[in-house]
Amino acid sequence: APVVVAIDGPSGSGKSTVSRAVAARLGLSFLDTGAMYRAMTWWMLANEIDVEDADAVATVCTKPVIVSGTDAAGPTITVDGQDVSGPIRGPQVTSRVSAVAAVPEVRTRLVELQRASADAAERGIVAEGRDMGTVVFPRATVKIFLTASQEARAARRAAELRAKGVDEATIAAMAADLGRRDAADSSRRTAPLAKADDAVAVDTSDMTLEQVIDHVVDLVQA
Ligand code: ADP
Ligand code: CDP
Repeated sequence: APVVVAIDGPSGSGKSTVSRAVAARLGLSFLDTGAMYRAMTWWMLANEIDVEDADAVATVCTKPVIVSGTDAAGPTITVDGQDVSGPIRGPQVTSRVSAVAAVPEVRTRLVELQRASADAAERGIVAEGRDMGTVVFPRATVKIFLTASQEARAARRAAELRAKGVDEATIAAMAADLGRRDAADSSRRTAPLAKADDAVAVDTSDMTLEQVIDHVVDLVQA
């Protein structure tokens, strides 16, 4: 059967960077499921849906056509054919995505697409998010739960935004958002962020990226 590597963890723990590198190294596909929740949120905002109104979000969430390219060398994400890879990382989407992701109908829709991506992957897939090991791929080959201290995660995110030339006020706002989002993601009723019982926990606070990537590759090959 094709390999499924499920990687979960809070914001800034290293999921995207590590998953992409592991997929590239092992010749597997790569799926950033957070980007799908962000794309859904982007569409809601573009269409002036009140994202705090769960019923309104549930009613329209089957409308956008969200497509994620799964090539680890260059992941892509489109909504109704439009490239949204830039705007989905902005502060508007980031501050509202947890509300949209808490709506069960949104999750049903996106989980369906995520499983279809895995089925279409020729050699297998590295999928990262919040519920890969617990809900989407309960029979994954390997499950990893990446963590890092809140300070390490906030510092990484800030460095990343600074390198992109983002202003300090926005960086501070997004740092505040990180803690709020983790709390919301961990306490929601449907598919809360949690370590699967059979996942391996990896604390990356004091590890370099290379160390984390090597360790995850070892776990997959074990
Ligand atoms: P997530 O997908 O979990 O939010 P990312 O992969 O986007 O996390 O990582 C956030 C930032 O932290 C990126 O800039 C990344 O390069 C950096 N990073 C990730 N893991 C490490 C690590 N172990 N050591 C140092 N920096 C890291
Ligand atoms: O970039 P960052 O790690 O901060 O977040 P992300 O992985 O892009 O995910 C953005 C948001 O999508 C999270 O805060 C969750 O609310 C939601 N999400 C989710 O609910 N389930 C997933 N499998 C992935 C993301």
